[in-house]
Amino acid sequence: MVVPYKHEPFTDFSVKENREAFEEALKKVEKELLGKDYDLIINGEYVSTDDKIVSYNPANKEEVIGRVSKANQELAEKAMQSADKAFETWRKVDPEERANVLFRAAAEIRRRKHEFSALLVKEAGKPWKEADADTAEAIDFLEYYGRQMLEIKDGKQIQSRPIEHNQYKYIPLGVGITISPWNFPFAIMAGTTVAPIVTGNTVILKPASATPVVAAWFADVMLKAGTPAGVLNYLPGSGSEVGDYLVDHPRTRFISFTGSRDVGTRIWERAAKIQDGQKWLKRVIVEMGGKDTVCVDADADLDLAAQSIVYSAFGFAGQKCSAGSRAVVHQDIYDEVLDRAVKLTNELVTGETKDADVYMGPVIDKGAYDKIMDYIEIGKEEGRLMAGGEGDDSKGYFIKPTIFADLDPKARLMQEEIFGPVVAFSKARDFDHMLEIANNTEYGLTGALLTNDRDKIKRAKEDFHVGNLYFNRGCTGAIVGYQPFGGFNMSGTDSKAGGPDYLVQHMQPKTTSEGL
Ligand code: NAD
Ligand code: ALA
Repeated sequence: MVVPYKHEPFTDFSVKENREAFEEALKKVEKELLGKDYDLIINGEYVSTDDKIVSYNPANKEEVIGRVSKANQELAEKAMQSADKAFETWRKVDPEERANVLFRAAAEIRRRKHEFSALLVKEAGKPWKEADADTAEAIDFLEYYGRQMLEIKDGKQIQSRPIEHNQYKYIPLGVGITISPWNFPFAIMAGTTVAPIVTGNTVILKPASATPVVAAWFADVMLKAGTPAGVLNYLPGSGSEVGDYLVDHPRTRFISFTGSRDVGTRIWERAAKIQDGQKWLKRVIVEMGGKDTVCVDADADLDLAAQSIVYSAFGFAGQKCSAGSRAVVHQDIYDEVLDRAVKLTNELVTGETKDADVYMGPVIDKGAYDKIMDYIEIGKEEGRLMAGGEGDDSKGYFIKPTIFADLDPKARLMQEEIFGPVVAFSKARDFDHMLEIANNTEYGLTGALLTNDRDKIKRAKEDFHVGNLYFNRGCTGAIVGYQPFGGFNMSGTDSKAGGPDYLVQHMQPKTTSEGL
């Protein structure tokens, strides 16, 4: 019997011992673990290539986190063949044994928790708290999906008759391609890799090119925890070269993608095309971007409103699909909430994430920096700059937390995913207008409403059209098993990662009927 699932606790950095332990882990990563070379893993074997992806610290462009071998199409084909072959045996392995691999991996990561989080500080520029939460979420996915598999292993009850015994069981699909983003480089990468594995599929993991090292560490843990050869193939490479090749491959049975709307919709379209020799319709999970809104009604607690806006907008420099990049505030309290949010923002500690007090670090790379700075220029045309608005890319990619006020609900800043530390304020005439603005983008991922009015909470549950809706708090920070995560509309297929319906999306139900 496994103990019931509970989410991994976050580290309390106000405790001196915890801060010291984290500092130790950072030193260990800096002194012993940075700058190494990492191989591909194909069929359980480590494969080195001359061509490398170099991972840098976004807070310090000079610091190399690691050099990772880079796959090409020939190696992608080898990985496909190995995953295809391994499927024939892995699909028959007892689900309990498969779940145990996840539990062992979770235990190992828990033992090395700060070390993994310290790597995330370095490789993704995460503040300590955000890195700690990313590692905790990775552990949660392993623990939760392991238990979910044990729950569904015998399928679901259907009717039998005296003349026949009927069964309804879930069987795995085949080879899956996991394509993950850099912004939750541990949690999402791990979750979207182990869900297919525990359900009996085999996987080719193509991690994001900005954060391939944490994925290499994770793949290593999974192998040591007992994942057989070919079941998990670690294959960093170019999205357009290796990604397209694997998406198009006739032996690909399903794709689990998390990333931008542009790449997600491209994968959706390509996967729909039947290739020569393909015997199935590819299953596709695509979880994409967001333009998420924190709404504040006239009766809300104003300090809580300002905190919810600021922390949703600037946690991990706004680089979360769940980030609250729009604040829609009732006209009666608009100026007051804006003032408080600006004050709070100006007090945030920003810069290199060297200690637990730094709230916001760099953005991920030059491409992101340039794109966000362009949006800041657009913001200056479209709205009123209230805080931030400056960047410095001399050492790393730092942008001040930025607030724009008085945006038209249809302005670009209110419609397009910026994926950086920029929040746009818009004024609502009344509650209906607030909901209208909240629903006026093509996305539908997260949202929050601050109000003490039960009728408005009820109305928002019905009409605020997002996959994850929160009341009287911010719109980020979903926890596995507590707030299953996924969005509506162009935010994706709403697969609800970390929820009770997630695993079966990697399986197909089979009915058997046996005469008695
Ligand atoms: P991205 O789309 O640029 O890249 C995601 C992954 O796709 C990477 O591994 C990349 O190498 C790969 N890729 C790129 N081109 C490809 C192609 N042609 N074929 C196959 N794979 C390809 O996204 P990103 O910048 O890594 O991540 C940020 C985006 O992810 C944001 O839009 C954010 O909102 C979204 N996101 C969504 C969720 C969610 O759960 N909805 C979670 C995290 C991030
Ligand atoms: N779990 C992450 C959040 O909700 C995606 O912010």
